Amino acid sequence: MSKSMKMQVEAINNGTVIDHIPANIGLKLLKLFNIQLVNQRVTIGFNLPSSALGCKDIIKVENVFINEDQANQLALYAPNATVNQIENYEVAKKLNLKLPDQIHAIFRCPNSNCITHNEPVDSNFRVLTKRDDIQLKCKYCEKVFSREIVTEHP
Ligand code: CTP
Ligand code: ZN
Repeated sequence: MSKSMKMQVEAINNGTVIDHIPANIGLKLLKLFNIQLVNQRVTIGFNLPSSALGCKDIIKVENVFINEDQANQLALYAPNATVNQIENYEVAKKLNLKLPDQIHAIFRCPNSNCITHNEPVDSNFRVLTKRDDIQLKCKYCEKVFSREIVTEHP
């Protein structure tokens, strides 16, 4: 199949393509990048056909580049996503995601009594993995939460 037939969302010149996002997770990842996206061209595809996933989401952001640490913060939502750095219409770099040891300033602590809700400090969780099970431990209140509880918490 030709490249132009394969391309489901228009190619970008310079920037970041987050590919192989599980369907319905794209919107969450977009929220994580909210601040960086002001005034940039963003194209998204939701529920696109994918041979590997059946159905996938994809996000393309012009002129924004994310480093490996930032990319790894996405792994909690989309462990199999690929982050492509595009330069002059070519894939210059392809990052596979690794779960980070810590997740900093992204999620709120689900414990309403946690000091992070009353003090001007950023949240910080240590990532604990037991086989396929992922848990997060708040650095401040030391409570342990399942991945889903933290990522679903507003
Ligand atoms: N892409 C883009 N704009 C470009 C080049 C690539 O939007 N100028 C997108 C492609 O549509 C694809 C992703 O970036 O979604 C990665 O491109 P490429 O590595 O060429 O595709 P694949 O080989 O299908 O990637 P993978 O092996 O990660 O599935
Ligand atoms: Zn806490």
